[in-house]
Parts: sequence; C-alpha cells; structure tokens
Amino acid sequence: MNETEPPEKGNPPSVLAAETLYKRFRAGSAAVPVLSGAGMIFREGLCYTIRGVSGSGKTTLLHLLAGLEAPDSGRVLYRNQDISRFSRKRLAGWRGRAIGLVFQAYHLLPELTALENVNLPAMLFGERDAKPGWALLEAVGMIHRCNHRPWELSGGEQQRVAIARALRNDPEILIADEPTGNLDEGTGLEVIDLLLDLQRSRGKTLVLATHDSRLARMGDRQLVLTGGKLEPSDRPLVPPTSASAPSSSSGEPRHAPESQSFLRESENPSLLP
Ligand SMILES: Nc1ncnc2c1ncn2[C@@H]1O[C@H](COP(=O)(O)OP(=O)(O)OP(=O)(O)O)[C@@H](O)[C@H]1O
Ligand SMILES: [Mg+2]
Repeated sequence: MNETEPPEKGNPPSVLAAETLYKRFRAGSAAVPVLSGAGMIFREGLCYTIRGVSGSGKTTLLHLLAGLEAPDSGRVLYRNQDISRFSRKRLAGWRGRAIGLVFQAYHLLPELTALENVNLPAMLFGERDAKPGWALLEAVGMIHRCNHRPWELSGGEQQRVAIARALRNDPEILIADEPTGNLDEGTGLEVIDLLLDLQRSRGKTLVLATHDSRLARMGDRQLVLTGGKLEPSDRPLVPPTSASAPSSSSGEPRHAPESQSFLRESENPSLLP
C-alpha cells in the first residue's frame, strides 16, 4: 500500500480511512465500549453523512478521524499513512492543514472579530495575510459582519463564520459534528446548503454527523453508526451495548461484512493492509 496507489473501479482515491476502529471509555470500574470495529474509506470529493442515536459514538469517531484522540485498536489512515505514527508536532500540523472542523457550538473565540476568527487557523501557521479571510467571509455571505464579535451574531451567522474558518487552510477534509444541532430548522437547512455548496465546489471530502435524517439523506454516502460499527443507513439505530474490543486471538474478521454496493466500493479491502 502506498500513496500512489491508483483509484480502483473509477472510484475517487481514498483520502481518509477508518480501519477497524475500537474505542471504549471507563465509567467507574466498568469499560463502556463505544466503537467496535468501525471501518470506512472516505474518498475525495464525497459527502458522507453519519447518523446514530445519542451516545452511539459519532463524536468519538469524528475525534479519532481528526486525530484528536487515539483508538484502542485499529488505525486511521490519511492517504494510506497511519496517523498514529505521526509525531505530536506532525499530527498537529496535519490536522491544522488537512482537516477543517465544524462543531455544533461553533467554538468561535469571543474576543476576536469574525475576520480574525476566520484567519486564526492560518495565523497559527505564521500566515498574516488577511485577504483569504475576506474572500471566505464573502463566500459564506458574512462580509458585512467582518468586524463583529461572535456574541453580536446569530447562531446561523456564527456557524457561517465557523465554516469559513474551517476552510481557511484549504483542507482536503471537512469534519462537521452536528453543525445544525443548535439551529432552527430553516436556518439549519440554509447552513447545510452552504456547507454542501462549498464542499462540492471546492472538491472537499465532508464527513458529517447529524441526528437529522433529512440532512443525512443529502450525503453522497449515507451511513449509520450502530452497535459500534458503520453500516449503510437502512440499518436500525441501536446503541453499542454488547460490543467489546477484540483481543489478538479473538478470531474476528478484520473487516466488517460489506452489505451494500457503495460499501463494497468504499471499503475496498485492497486499500487496507
Ligand atoms: N471522554 C470520555 N470519557 C468517558 N466516556 C465518554 C467520553 N467521551 C464519550 N464518552 C461516552 O461514549 C459514548 C459515546 O459518546 P459520543 O459523544 O461519541 O456519542 P454521540 O453519538 O456523539 O452522541 P450525541 O448524539 O449525543 O452527540 C457515550 O456513552 C459517552 O458518555
Ligand atoms: Mg456527539
């Protein structure tokens, strides 16, 4: 496996892959399994939506994909490179450049203006040019609010600014965790339309977790996180109660069964070791 591996069967190349991810958390003396073999190849330029009941592990999965947390076992591959092998510094640099994050609660810095918030990810890399921030505020329809602080903006306006910020370093991958979760239905739809427009026109890969089945249907690939695994979205939603992390002698298959054509394509085992 290497970075120059050609895309199979006309599929776009893999940009990010979750390979058999297991993750459990401690709750007192008990270990709570959350992910139990979640796997998926995320391909260039496509939008993947992930639904799942509250507590099913959507945020946990997105954190692993962004390298914010490490799995107990399994790997996250960025263009076929195992991100767990990156040094701490390289991981932070990779995340800052390759990944744009959008959160439910916007997470704008209150002391900064909209323009400063958008330009912050570039400033962290020593880039001082404000012009790309202007262009992004224009693209999200917020140029008229460039000097406003987050608390002077509505929720929908703050999320537009946050989307502009996520795009500031021109990342290949956008990861959005319930980006409309704090918004009313109409505003949420406007924000999601904007996000999808920008994702498609700029050729980004978008991984989007949402509770909203209407939003989920907008994805090119619609997944559900159920029982700790990623499945096609026609599966019922059940929380991960009985799943457990594998031992080296468990004999479990490394790859989940593939049950739908897009999963067959997207989880092409030839891309996995
Ligand atoms: N740092 C942590 N320590 C302990 N338990 C955690 C931690 N993070 C998440 N969990 C637990 O893992 C499970 C999955 O949480 P997660 O936030 O990933 O779910 P979710 O699908 O995003 O839920 P929601 O739809 O409510 O956002 C939950 O039971 C949660 O309590
Ligand atoms: Mg969540």
